[in-house]
Amino acid sequence: FLSQEQAAPAWFLSLAFLGTLYAAAFSFRFLAYLALCLRRPKDLRRRYGAWAVVTGPTSGIGRSVALELASRGLNLVLVDLNAANLKEISHTVRSRHAVQTKTVVFDLSLVSTAQGDEALRRLREAVAGLDVGVLVNNAGVAKPGAVYLHEADVEACVRLMRVNLWALTEVTAAVLPGMVERGRGAVVNMGSASSEAIPSFPLYTMYAATKRYVAQFSRSLYVEYRSKGIDVQCQSPFFLAIDLRVPLIKWIPMENWRILILTFHTRWLFDCMIAIHRIFFP
Ligand SMILES: NC(=O)c1ccc[n+]([C@@H]2O[C@H](COP(=O)([O-])OP(=O)(O)OC[C@H]3O[C@@H](n4cnc5c(N)ncnc54)[C@H](OP(=O)(O)O)[C@@H]3O)[C@@H](O)[C@H]2O)c1
Repeated sequence: FLSQEQAAPAWFLSLAFLGTLYAAAFSFRFLAYLALCLRRPKDLRRRYGAWAVVTGPTSGIGRSVALELASRGLNLVLVDLNAANLKEISHTVRSRHAVQTKTVVFDLSLVSTAQGDEALRRLREAVAGLDVGVLVNNAGVAKPGAVYLHEADVEACVRLMRVNLWALTEVTAAVLPGMVERGRGAVVNMGSASSEAIPSFPLYTMYAATKRYVAQFSRSLYVEYRSKGIDVQCQSPFFLAIDLRVPLIKWIPMENWRILILTFHTRWLFDCMIAIHRIFFP
């Protein structure tokens, strides 16, 4: 056997060596990933700070994130455009968890207008002096939905770009100085699989493009701020159950679920049907 192995050509041995190295590296990465999944959740309050800022916390993913952070003992600054919805989520959070909340009414689609500047000033005031450790840039819009670019409503497009990328940038810039000062913090940006996991997302071109910005913004920001103790993460979900108050799924006690159930939202389903129809019957 030994003499046979010694007779193996050098190219074969080199390839076998490289293969073994690759398999070992892959196994190590896989085990490290498993260990990451199985470890105990971080104490966010101790690691990052006592407060979290969440944009778009009144429905969908943002609502779940806000409730989850509150369940981990973080006080919340809730940012949304609708005062009544903000009051409702703020009350819900405080009735379930022993945390404090602050609300900031901010229509993110008005960023960089006089009204937007005023709202941003209120946000800066709200976070001033607070130990804000976590920022979740969740608010995002997909309207105008599935349309050809030349047919899209211009105002809806402008709103989409303002909310999905401009406001996200401004809000991050408003919260970061405190984190830098304290030398710790985490920024979680809500991207989308539409820009990360699939090569293109026709008819949602602008939406996917704004989410690509979010991903690249997060990557670069991570490198920029990691030496200052700030973690930056971009979440890229596929389709998720979003409006948790949709009557069709109201019977499912979803709000307390830690894992959002993968499903199609009726609005997305409707948009997808339009998209398919328009591709085949232009
Ligand atoms: N659901 C999905 O399938 C999916 C997939 C990939 C990525 N995402 C991303 O995940 C994030 C959350 O999505 P979602 O599905 O949970 O959305 P959603 O249910 O529509 O909730 C969006 C939240 O953002 C708020 N918001 C919308 N426009 C705003 C504005 N101009 N100013 C301030 N707040 C505003 C909404 O407030 P009101 O309720 O008061 O209007 C709501 O609280 C978004 O960034 C989205 O792009 C979602």
